[in-house]
Amino acid sequence: MQIKKVGVIGCGLMGHGIVQVAAQGGCQVVAVETEQKFLDSGLGRIDKSLAKLAEKQVKDGKATQEQATAFVAATKARITGTLDKKALADCDLVVEAIVENLDVKKTLFAELDKLCKPSTIFASNTSSFSIGEMGKASGRPANMVGLHFFNPVQLMKLVEVVRAADTSDEVFSAARSFGEACGKVPVSCKDTPGFVVNRLLVPYMAEAIKMLERGDASAQDIDIAMKLGCGYPMGPIELTDYVGLDTTLSIVEGWVKRYPNDPAFCVPNLLKQKVAEKKLGRKTGEGFYKWEGDKKA
Ligand code: 3HC
Repeated sequence: MQIKKVGVIGCGLMGHGIVQVAAQGGCQVVAVETEQKFLDSGLGRIDKSLAKLAEKQVKDGKATQEQATAFVAATKARITGTLDKKALADCDLVVEAIVENLDVKKTLFAELDKLCKPSTIFASNTSSFSIGEMGKASGRPANMVGLHFFNPVQLMKLVEVVRAADTSDEVFSAARSFGEACGKVPVSCKDTPGFVVNRLLVPYMAEAIKMLERGDASAQDIDIAMKLGCGYPMGPIELTDYVGLDTTLSIVEGWVKRYPNDPAFCVPNLLKQKVAEKKLGRKTGEGFYKWEGDKKA
């Protein structure tokens, strides 16, 4: 089962990156959004990112200016944007990267089942919801798989490929190959909360916020400690700002609700407080730190 045409629903923080890496990998990509302004914004981000990548290829001596320009043009030519989900009918794979709300995702997959050809594989880029539950809602559980990319998608090398109980061998293997075509290293995960990365990363971020809450150390010192002590590219507080405080809160709240007796899952009060104040991190210009675009102020 070879994936040649891909649909990506949602062209936001994660979705625009998935559209881009799939197109870079040689797939025809249909990017679907709900409003023209969201589509324009996502496609605009792709343009900027491709320009950065091309500039870097030339600077690093990996491509001539002509080759870099041709790479950008060929990648863009594979991408079409639309507000109409019917354009997904003949896709080999549809990846959703919409809001982290399980009911909304289930409704979407049920709708896609009616629109897409029977062989279309459905994938979710969810951070923490059950792929199996979405598979059941889609009416084609054997064709459902998780494809969890990391932020920023263009630069992070990993994709988690999540196998639910009903995912067929053929679908799982096609999803892994797609991840590789996108330039990523796939790891196989079971359909467990947070898969591999977020199951380890999110409790670590929550612990760091509790540390800050208790006044054990400043945000800056916690971040410096983990960067210089463990070699992480970002400290946990900065990373929470980068990922989004609302996203982090919704992941931990969901887990606490579903697994109230698991001590690894807890909701730090400071996180709730910041989200209530609409300090959501990089995306709103302030979280634990102040931000100017993609960089800390
Ligand atoms: N597209 C293309 N190029 C880009 C780019 C993009 N979107 N963003 C940055 N670049 C380029 C820059 O132009 C720069 O090029 P240069 O070397 O020629 O100047 C190069 O990439 C490096 O960029 P920066 O100087 O901005 O970045 P850093 O070296 O500081 O690295 C980082 C940035 C990759 C984000 C690094 O800090 C990092 O790895 N941070 C940790 C990120 C992480 O852990 N992500 C996972 C989050 S968890 C998640 O996503 C799961 C979810 O479910 C919650």
